[in-house]
Amino acid sequence: MTEQSPALDNLLTESRTFPPSEAFSAQANATADFYAEADADREAFWAKQAERLHWETKWSQVLDWTNAPVAKWFVGGKLNVAYNCVDRHVDSGHGDQVAIHWVGEPGDSRDITYAQLKDDVSRAANALESLGLEAGDRVAIQMPMVPEAIVAMLACARIGVLHSVVFGGFSPTALRSRVDDQAARIVITTDGQYRRGKAAPMKVNVDEALEGAESVEKVIVVRRTGEEVPITEGRDIWWHELVDGQSAEHTPQAFDSEHPLFILYTSGTTGKPKGILHTSGGYLTQAAYTHHNVFDHKAGEDVYWCTADIGWITGHTYIVYGPLANRTTQVVYEGTPNTPHEGRHWEIVQQHKVSIYYTAPTLIRTFMKWGNEIPQKYDLSSLRVLGSVGEPINPEAWIWYRENIGANSAPIVDTWWQTETGGIMISPLPGVTATKPGSAQKALPGISAKVVDDQGVEVGKGGGGYLVLDKPWPGMLRGIWGDEQRFRETYWSRFADQGFYFAGDGAKYDADGDVWLLGRVDDVMNVSGHRISTTEVESALVSHPTVAEAAVVGATDPTTGQGIVAFVILRGNAVDGGDEAVQELRNHVAKEIGPIAKPRQILVVQELPKTRSGKIMRRLLRDVAENRQVGDVTTLADSSVMDLISSGLKSGK
Ligand code: PRX
Repeated sequence: MTEQSPALDNLLTESRTFPPSEAFSAQANATADFYAEADADREAFWAKQAERLHWETKWSQVLDWTNAPVAKWFVGGKLNVAYNCVDRHVDSGHGDQVAIHWVGEPGDSRDITYAQLKDDVSRAANALESLGLEAGDRVAIQMPMVPEAIVAMLACARIGVLHSVVFGGFSPTALRSRVDDQAARIVITTDGQYRRGKAAPMKVNVDEALEGAESVEKVIVVRRTGEEVPITEGRDIWWHELVDGQSAEHTPQAFDSEHPLFILYTSGTTGKPKGILHTSGGYLTQAAYTHHNVFDHKAGEDVYWCTADIGWITGHTYIVYGPLANRTTQVVYEGTPNTPHEGRHWEIVQQHKVSIYYTAPTLIRTFMKWGNEIPQKYDLSSLRVLGSVGEPINPEAWIWYRENIGANSAPIVDTWWQTETGGIMISPLPGVTATKPGSAQKALPGISAKVVDDQGVEVGKGGGGYLVLDKPWPGMLRGIWGDEQRFRETYWSRFADQGFYFAGDGAKYDADGDVWLLGRVDDVMNVSGHRISTTEVESALVSHPTVAEAAVVGATDPTTGQGIVAFVILRGNAVDGGDEAVQELRNHVAKEIGPIAKPRQILVVQELPKTRSGKIMRRLLRDVAENRQVGDVTTLADSSVMDLISSGLKSGK
């Protein structure tokens, strides 16, 4: 098993537990007997969860796993995902309930009821159909957190079109490769976006991305910042001109349970992002089930806020599909947490009486840095459940979250899952589980996970190894868009004999058998909860004319979890490796991939440590990046390389 970073070791010395209060347990959605119920008959358990949804035609079989690893859930069932997330709440008399309290970064806001959402989604669905889109087509969406982004996703779902949301911070190059990979017919974007108090362009980046993109017929532009944008005649259409005049009546058609819902690209161990494919019935079932139980959500009572961006899976499952399927009233915030001040989130919690708050450890650590006095200025007494996602949460951050945000009483759910899993897999259940700072603890009822050794044999209590998912689950990915081979190789070949899904995470059982996640065991980095592959950043670096070779590692970072550290060999001796050259390279990576991939540090070196077969030994580079004594160098082709690197760095060369 790959070595762990020392910062994670302290996770395992944590022994405090926080049992739920009696009062919380008495009202909790989840009960302890869920585990036994699911174990007794998993398929019956999931069938019961699927009853949360409205099915136009009921399924004839819960699970078909005969074509593993491609699962079919709720076989023969038909449903419309958007109807489930919107219309049925209006039909059941809740049209006046607020679905979205939208808060714009500059201070503007909109409250959207379920009835209004239904009209908006219907109009948008009619608009997309008027452009000739048909079920199975693809639409790429690159937008900030504005209501139209959610409406666009739901409109696609309503007509059976796959959406593929590309995070707003991704570069034109990154957008283009995603648009090409799926041959998107339409791209939806905004004129600009507000970031840190300023309007930044968006449409011009999309224009740059789409130059010569053959599949794209139309670009729909939502007006957000009001800045002037170039319009390509015949291709570009304003959202308001296209959508506003459409009828608010649209009949949702029911699609097969396995009809594709969306593609979402995520980083793997190679440079090319993977288009993760999710389908309808199973995904929505798991989204609704987990949102209901993991967050203890009560429709019509709670105010929920997930701080993710819709460009990531958390935004898909826990802003759009899960919450809306459960008739949630939620806050959607457009901007950054310190605009215009560092108390912005707490001000929003106070104003909207947010009761469930779901965020990432990197943000919690940032709040810690900003100081306890900031949340103390606000009334946070409405908060009753707190969630964490995206990376291991260190016990210090967990305790800080509990004490400063959760008034020492709100249960914290540390939720482990992935783009590929579609929904939460491992998490405490509030009201049931005695929580432990830093541990995601237990696979949810209906989900099965194990920690295994190299041979695929489950390790004992106290043992560590690889996290695998040993039974199919409803929200599981159904493939990688256009690349079945890669799907099988990436997830199913490592433990092919046992038929386990290989998650790519290291994990450990504690003495109670609870699971502790220890970070990735492959070449995927986790920076502020965002997945970035080392190879992706290396390819970006070597695409710069001055770089001969590059090796990238994720080094432990106190705020972002990991920081990107790059080691580069420059071409020719004439090239100067000074600050300016390094800055230029950092900017180059940001331009190629997006600002989230900008290396924290770039070190210019003369050599890279390689094995005799030419493989770069990242472990040794990580030692350098984390200022540790360099480990065992005996497998290096030339063991003096590490001395050269270390002495070169010390002398500033
Ligand atoms: O390494 C794990 C980490 O994030 C990876 C999945 O990243 P992504 O597909 O972008 O989805 C993030 C949001 C679901 C995992 O392989 N990860 C996610 N949640 C946790 C976590 N690591 C530890 N604890 C978590 N709660």
